[in-house]
Amino acid sequence: MAALLFLLLLSISAVHADEGPYIGVNIGTALSAMPSATQVVALLKSQNIHHVRLYDADASLLVALANTGIRVVVSVPNEQLLAIGSSNATAAAWVARNVAAHFPTVNISAIAVGSEVLTSMPNAAPLLLPAMRFLQSALVASNLDKFVKVSTPHSSSIILDSFPPSQAFFNRSLDPILSPLLRFLQSTSSPLFLNVYPYYDYMQSNGVIPLDYALFRPLPPNKEAVDANTLLHYTNVFDAVVDAAYFAMEYLNVTHVPVVVLESGWPHKGDPSTEPDATTDNADTYNSNLIRHVINSTGTPKHPGIAVPTYIYELYDEDQRPGALSEKSWGLFDSTGLPAYTLHLSGSGLLLANDTTNQTFCVAREGADPKLLQAALDWACGPGKVDCSVLMQGQACSEPDDVESHASYAFNAYYHGMGMGSGTCYFSGVAAFTTTDPSHDTCLFAGRYFNFFSSVIIEHSIIMPYCCINCST
Ligand SMILES: *[C@@H]1O[C@H](CO)[C@@H](O)[C@H](O)[C@H]1NC(C)=O
Ligand SMILES: *[C@@H]1O[C@H](CO)[C@@H](O)[C@H](O)[C@H]1NC(C)=O
Ligand SMILES: *[C@@H]1O[C@H](CO)[C@@H](O)[C@H](O)[C@H]1NC(C)=O
Ligand SMILES: *[C@@H]1O[C@H](CO)[C@@H](O)[C@H](O)[C@H]1NC(C)=O
Ligand SMILES: *[C@@H]1O[C@H](CO)[C@@H](O)[C@H](O)[C@H]1NC(C)=O
Ligand SMILES: *[C@@H]1O[C@H](CO)[C@@H](O)[C@H](O)[C@H]1NC(C)=O
Ligand SMILES: *[C@@H]1O[C@H](CO)[C@@H](O)[C@H](O)[C@H]1NC(C)=O
Repeated sequence: MAALLFLLLLSISAVHADEGPYIGVNIGTALSAMPSATQVVALLKSQNIHHVRLYDADASLLVALANTGIRVVVSVPNEQLLAIGSSNATAAAWVARNVAAHFPTVNISAIAVGSEVLTSMPNAAPLLLPAMRFLQSALVASNLDKFVKVSTPHSSSIILDSFPPSQAFFNRSLDPILSPLLRFLQSTSSPLFLNVYPYYDYMQSNGVIPLDYALFRPLPPNKEAVDANTLLHYTNVFDAVVDAAYFAMEYLNVTHVPVVVLESGWPHKGDPSTEPDATTDNADTYNSNLIRHVINSTGTPKHPGIAVPTYIYELYDEDQRPGALSEKSWGLFDSTGLPAYTLHLSGSGLLLANDTTNQTFCVAREGADPKLLQAALDWACGPGKVDCSVLMQGQACSEPDDVESHASYAFNAYYHGMGMGSGTCYFSGVAAFTTTDPSHDTCLFAGRYFNFFSSVIIEHSIIMPYCCINCST
């Protein structure tokens, strides 16, 4: 048994032996002011983004990506699936024009065939595997199959009963298509592409999934989800979904296909009445925590230490996407390249969306319960080791003498003292980020002049434990 597990881990990691864990970014182009290909590539370079996924194989973007070292997943749009799935010659022409013509100056790593075809275009599902096979044989014929993998991204909604993960299985009516498709992936050493959206899982769960569990925030031990069959502990939705995919594949006897998450993210804006959790803070928290989780090679409870490469959805806000406000607000940047928010990545050794403003403060959340604020203030000035002497009567920050102002001072001092690390501006939900300097009179908030902390490496950030809240009430 142990030997078998070892072999399995070995073979799963071997597929990505050429690279460690990595974060990529999806580049959607439904923008009214789409930046030019050179502007896109300049942004990618300035942000140290080394992996991207395109939704097509746009020639001007591919030309701009040449000789950059950036690895590229190109896509066959759903509209082209019919033609490619029904003609070997069309597939060969697609590969010649969109892959062979650019390789190796453009480091194309995979072809994503269609997008969520089994759920968004079920009628075309029978053509999916033929299209993949035709594209694969064209790659073989051009001697590119060793460099370029063929796969297809699935919605995680094809996995049913995904908790506990050990009991997850693929929608059985898809088995006739999925079973041979997974065998194809296994025989070509290609990954399973999965789109994982804890935001939607959370939204659709009617309160069953706690927001903290979706956002990778620390959960009190009694709220951690335990898989009763495996006794594995799940601390976030992302891991649970990825493991559900591993178990669902195992159920079909496929054990050697690694999961690559081709899309994941969180919208930073939404309709306040119907999408209240599409906020800058939540998007920042989700993406920052996701990046740290992936880069740290934590793996999942089922396959600890096995990296799950993940592509963030997405580079730009796409203002031309139809639908709710949140649909247009998944971007890390606006069309001019300004960050939608500053990711909090201190400690992950990664530079993405550098703090260009130097002005992020952590303050008491508007309307937060004063009792919870007091408990968090007591924690910050006590176990949190913030020097709160300026809050004493007669000192610079004693006025206004209310719990909200005092908590704001202490939260911000803690947040900057901890190097603005992810999870250090939380305080059980009563803290919030702001870019407005809260300093007043002679009461100066940390971060006012510069933040030399943002490059500090934090090994272990101390997160305020949940007990403080319970202790005081
Ligand atoms: C981000 O900031 C770090 C440290 O301040 C600096 O070394 C790096 O060059 C910056 N990266 C970008 C992309 O501006
Ligand atoms: C593509 O990227 C991989 C991983 O970084 C690297 O090993 C390989 O040499 C690159 N190929 C080309 C043609 O640049
Ligand atoms: C499809 O084309 C490839 C070359 O691109 C060839 O090797 C393969 O045999 C063809 N397959 C079929 C089913 O025609
Ligand atoms: C399973 O897939 C079938 C065929 O696509 C679909 O009609 C059905 O709604 C799916 N079942 C669930 C529970 O999602
Ligand atoms: C998986 O393997 C088991 C044991 O060899 C077999 O009984 C079962 O039918 C297989 N299932 C599938 C879907 O191939
Ligand atoms: C990173 O991984 C180590 C173990 O490899 C773990 O102890 C640590 O908590 C992880 N950090 C994060 C931020 O996940
Ligand atoms: C941010 O802080 C750095 C370091 O003190 C400083 O050099 C830079 O000019 C500041 N940037 C802005 C936009 O204030």
